[in-house]
Order: sequence, then C-alpha cells, then structure tokens
Amino acid sequence: PDPERDRLLQAYDLSAKFYHFLLKNTEYGKEAMAYLRSRNFSDKMIDQFQIGFAPDRWDTLQQFLEKRSFDLAEMERGGLLSARSEGRGYVDRFRGRIIFPIANRTGKTVAFAARILGEGQPKYLNSPESRLFNKSRLLYNLHQARASIRKTRQIVLFEGYGDVISAWEAGVHNGVATMGTSLTEGHAALMKTLADEVVVAYDGDKAGQAAAMKSIPMLENVGLRVKIAVLPSGLDPDEFIGRYGGERFMDQVIHAAVSTVKFKLIYLKKGHILLEEDGKIAYVKEALEIIAALPSSTEREVYLKEIATELNLSYESLKQDCNLLRASLQ
Ligand code: GTP
Ligand code: MN
Ligand code: MN
Ligand code: MN
Ligand code: MN
Repeated sequence: PDPERDRLLQAYDLSAKFYHFLLKNTEYGKEAMAYLRSRNFSDKMIDQFQIGFAPDRWDTLQQFLEKRSFDLAEMERGGLLSARSEGRGYVDRFRGRIIFPIANRTGKTVAFAARILGEGQPKYLNSPESRLFNKSRLLYNLHQARASIRKTRQIVLFEGYGDVISAWEAGVHNGVATMGTSLTEGHAALMKTLADEVVVAYDGDKAGQAAAMKSIPMLENVGLRVKIAVLPSGLDPDEFIGRYGGERFMDQVIHAAVSTVKFKLIYLKKGHILLEEDGKIAYVKEALEIIAALPSSTEREVYLKEIATELNLSYESLKQDCNLLRASLQ
C-alpha cells in the first residue's frame, strides 16, 4: 500500500478532467481549441484522448487542488505544481499549454505532456518521473491499443502523440509512441510480451530516420519482426494524414512498410551521390555488407538483383563480390 501514490493518481485523474473541461467549455480554452482545429484534431479525438488546456495563469490548478484538500508539497513531488523560485509556496507547472494525459497500462493517468500553443521552447513540457511515471517503460496509448494489438499481434510505433491520435482516426488502432524518440530496451521487452511484429513509423526527417535505424537492432534483439513505414521526406505521420488523408496513409505508408534490409539500403543510399563513380562504389560496398550477412540465399538474390538493375551493374559480379564477403565473414 502506497497512500501517496493513490492520492497522486487521484489528483492526476481529476486534473486531466479539469483541463479537458477548461479546453472545451470555457473562455480560457478558446484559443487552444482554435489551434487544435487548425491541426485537424476532431472533437471525437479530443474526447477520446482527453486532451485539455492549462490556462496561462500561475494558480489555476493549485486552487483546484487546494479546494480538494490535496497536500501541495505532495503535488509538487508528483509534478503537477512547481516550487516557487523565490519565497515559499507553489505555482502551476503547466501554463498556457495543451495537455495530453499520459496513461499507464491500466488506463490511469500518471503524467502530462504539455505542448506550447504554436512556436516556442520547450515545445513539450512533461511531468517529471515520479512514483507513478517511468518514461523508459511507458508507451503512450498502450491501454487503448491493447485490444487491437492482441488481435493483430502487431504494434505500430510512432514518435509523437499527434501521430498516434491522427493515425487512430485513420484506422490504426494498434499505435503507440514513446515519450520522445528514445526507445529503450525496456520498451522493446514490453512490446515483445504483447506482439510479434513492430511497424516503426517515425518522422520522415533526418532525426526520425536515424532513430528508426537505431530502433532496428533493439527490436530485433528481443525477437520482434520489424518493418519500417517510410514517410516522404520532411513529413511526420500526422502531417501526412493532414495533407493526403487517412486512406492514403493506410495504403501508401502503413501497408507499404518495407523490410529492415530494404530500409537500410534506402537509408544508405541517401548518404551517397550515385551519379559519381566513387559514390556508386562506396554505396555498393556498404550495401553488400548488409546483404552478405543475410542467411537466406533467396533474399540475397532479391536484393542483389534490385541493386544490379538500379545501378546498371551485372548481377554476376555483385554476386561474386557478395560471396567473397560472405567467405570472409565465416
Ligand atoms: P507537433 O509539433 O505537436 O506535431 O509534435 P511532434 O510530435 O511532431 O514533435 P517532434 O516530431 O518534434 O517530436 C517527437 C516527439 O518528441 C514528441 O511527440 C515528444 O514526445 C518529443 N519532444 C519533442 N520536442 C520535445 C521537447 O521540447 N521536450 C520534450 N520533453 N519532448 C519533446
Ligand atoms: Mn492532425
Ligand atoms: Mn520528429
Ligand atoms: Mn513529428
Ligand atoms: Mn507532428
């Protein structure tokens, strides 16, 4: 029994409802609501994900918690309030921000991710880790995605909260996200207990694609099959859906997810200028290292033939170099 934990859970539950109410039903929420609408968040998704708004004031939540006899020092430890920088007392931690409640596996709110309206730093402000909230073991939306994950034995892994929400509306009901791009071994192990396959759908920018590369060994090491959904450069899943719609997202991104080998080759190719001999040779050399490590000769043939066609090289010479490399790997 941990009474402080129970009180904190209750405070998060009430605060999430309070912020959601302020967004939807008060003057304070008007601007935030307009912002969410401009980003195509529907009423249905705002309700389902219990999105809220924390007004740009110092004591809105503090007064709410005080009236309900919560201990403010305890609320500070739990990350709902901050200690005043000067003097005694507390201020609201989240001010002028959209609130995304973060639920644990059983659906109880254990933290908030709070986004600034428009531009500014930090873009997201999260609750600190607490006796409720361990971000290296928590996946956003897992409680709602569980039913679909159980049925499909598959998880779609996104970078951001907005991606999970937009994709849900597009029909992806097995989508989760880490709190930021850092995927941990704890996350991978947790996913392995629920699914056989993960589709990594990170942002189509450099950071997102580099993070997808890093995720491959982490997920494969726990025995998960991995596929990569490739976004057009610069777009994240939420932006893709906003621009092209949910149907195209399903067809052209989720269902078009590629094998990890294919993705590694695409990624590798971006780092080389194939119109120059040096670039072409360097690309082939690195690509062969990936292909030579594949245990299946059919798979090796498929990728070698693709590269041969693409770069106008002979399959025979590629195969020969690949076999030499394989011999040196034994
Ligand atoms: P939007 O701009 O609202 O669409 O957010 P996004 O999810 O597309 O953000 P981005 O691709 O920049 O970052 C992906 C994820 O990293 C976010 O969903 C957050 O979880 C996390 N993240 C981004 N910026 C910050 C930040 O300033 N602080 C923290 N703590 N996390 C961040
Ligand atoms: Mn959107
Ligand atoms: Mn990103
Ligand atoms: Mn993004
Ligand atoms: Mn985004």
